[in-house]
Amino acid sequence: MDAAAVHAVHLAAFPTAAEAELVASIRASGLYIPDFSIVAELEGRVVGHALMSHADLDHHGVRLPVLVLAPFAVHPASRGRGTGTALMHECLGRADHAGEPLVLLVGHPGYYPRFGFAPAGRYGIRPPEPMSDAVLLAKRLSGYDPTWRGQLRYPAAFEVVMDDLERPLPPSASS
Ligand SMILES: CC(C)(COP(=O)(O)OP(=O)(O)OC[C@H]1O[C@@H](n2cnc3c(N)ncnc32)[C@H](O)[C@@H]1OP(=O)(O)O)[C@@H](O)C(=O)NCCC(=O)NCCS
Repeated sequence: MDAAAVHAVHLAAFPTAAEAELVASIRASGLYIPDFSIVAELEGRVVGHALMSHADLDHHGVRLPVLVLAPFAVHPASRGRGTGTALMHECLGRADHAGEPLVLLVGHPGYYPRFGFAPAGRYGIRPPEPMSDAVLLAKRLSGYDPTWRGQLRYPAAFEVVMDDLERPLPPSASS
């Protein structure tokens, strides 16, 4: 992975540097899985990046590992050409192939349902407080187990984005 190019994509894609820092933070933790860090290139340039890593689902005090997709971004200059769609299909394909039960993310409810994401609350999965229930989305994979319910707990590596995750998302579909 070209870390500098990936950093630049997230800096350009998000209003703050938090998501770019999240990539570095996850890489510095023990949670980084190279196969779950996916780069999109157009004409030899890095234009998108998606990272999946494990968080815990607190199931009556038992910690179950679930995948969270964050960050996920395409450079603003390269949007609307299917790159985000291709990145998402690659993420879900790799997660499914690895036998993961589901993928969770915090994102715009207008974009992710096209990939089969639904409000996580529908499957009995709650975000950490004070995050709103409305923003946590889940995609079930073939290894999904409906008994996996409870509250999502982000690892310490996510501290850098906690303020962003707790803020309501803007209503615009153009961000
Ligand atoms: C979301 C994102 C990755 C999409 O990338 P992309 O390469 O433009 O995606 P695609 O070209 O595959 O799809 C574009 C489609 O998504 C729609 N779309 C993009 N952002 C959207 C949003 N926030 N809400 C609803 N729809 C959205 C576009 O209108 C377009 O619709 P169409 O297919 O009907 O024309 C990109 O907009 C982005 O990086 N956004 C900022 C970062 C972000 O919010 N990441 C998610 C949280 S970690």
